[in-house]
Amino acid sequence: MFDHPNHRIIPVQLGTRAYPIVISQSQNSDIGEFARTCLDATWAGRGCRDSVIVTDSNVLPLTDPWRRVLESLGLSIETAVIEPGEESKSLAQAAALYTRLIEMRADRHTLVVAIGGGVVGDLAGFVAATFTRGLNLLMVPTSLLAQVDSSVGGKVGINHPAAKNIVGAFHQPIGVWIDLHALATLPGRELRSGLAEVIKYGVILDPNFFDLIERRLDEALALDSSVLGDFIARSCVLKADVVSRDEREETGLRAVLNFGHTIGHAIEAVAGYGGDYLHGEAVAVGMIAESRLAERLGWIDHTLTDRLTRLVERAGLPTKAPKLDVDALLAAMALDKKNQGGRLKFVLPRELGRVELVTLPDTTQLRAVLNDLIQ
Ligand SMILES: NC(=O)c1ccc[n+]([C@@H]2O[C@H](COP(=O)([O-])OP(=O)(O)OC[C@H]3O[C@@H](n4cnc5c(N)ncnc54)[C@H](O)[C@@H]3O)[C@@H](O)[C@H]2O)c1
Ligand SMILES: [Zn+2]
Repeated sequence: MFDHPNHRIIPVQLGTRAYPIVISQSQNSDIGEFARTCLDATWAGRGCRDSVIVTDSNVLPLTDPWRRVLESLGLSIETAVIEPGEESKSLAQAAALYTRLIEMRADRHTLVVAIGGGVVGDLAGFVAATFTRGLNLLMVPTSLLAQVDSSVGGKVGINHPAAKNIVGAFHQPIGVWIDLHALATLPGRELRSGLAEVIKYGVILDPNFFDLIERRLDEALALDSSVLGDFIARSCVLKADVVSRDEREETGLRAVLNFGHTIGHAIEAVAGYGGDYLHGEAVAVGMIAESRLAERLGWIDHTLTDRLTRLVERAGLPTKAPKLDVDALLAAMALDKKNQGGRLKFVLPRELGRVELVTLPDTTQLRAVLNDLIQ
């Protein structure tokens, strides 16, 4: 596995599918060695002759070093540039990429390099998972959300017009390269949205990490790369650990990652995707609401929610979802993948750093929480 003193390396332990997540502060030096080592670790990679870079038009300027490196490794390069935004995570866009791969006579030895946010990663990953039943995939996440969440864990997929992320697969990359410099061009609102997921890891798994976020948040917001590197590394370690113990969502352990997301997804669905809430913003509101729900069920006192609310506010994230319709939110939650037999399931905090999956007996407490949320 790739190892180098200049970079922080987080191994994702998945047996024959193990791979490294590299967190780099040194402006793309060593990506050639990284790509070569990852390719050499697989049969298809050793015979790799061509590659396709998938990116979006905002991120395209960040792809130049990769083009140079792939060329120096002797690979031909095609570049597919998609429109930025969630609409690109579509079957039509996947089909266009399949056509491109067929035209370039891609085969099992073709490498897919996904350079961009979660949209690029999920779409390119889905195409890599399905074209000839699996192409090698290198992930180069460039948004904070993609660096701490979507590029870790192997879930890839696209949306159906009627349901988000409903068509997908598990497909682990052969390596993930996180360049902290990429965040310099990321819009501030997108950075804050990614911080919501970082905060989530503290709440669900690691009270010390939550303390660290409280102490160093301002530096992270000011793009201090050492602090951001710490935040990203700890988030990746925590998620990689959960994923390695429940790779394909079979033991239920992976559900802990869903804290804040039952209500968060409902907010996104009701407000409309690409609408008023970015994913992390909806998750921020969802975490606070779900923490209040845990209070109402008698699981925790108000201290945890108060601390969480302060941190979310300091991160410049919303804490409420004014004017949304409670019945519409409940209807959206009824479609949640965790539900069983028509009963709603939630991941709620027991204490800072520990969450549990619970089936709600009825919606009385939930309605009360949602009513507060929309004020
Ligand atoms: N697979 C998973 O496990 C998983 C987990 C969480 C989220 N997701 C998915 O991830 C997606 C959201 O990801 P996202 O928040 O990264 O959205 P995104 O990919 O749309 O990126 C957000 C915006 O930032 C721009 N951008 C990205 N990096 C940039 C950079 N370095 N400089 C300038 N602009 C940059 C993009 O062009 C886009 O406009 C959703 O589709 C969600 O479903 C997947
Ligand atoms: Zn999320």
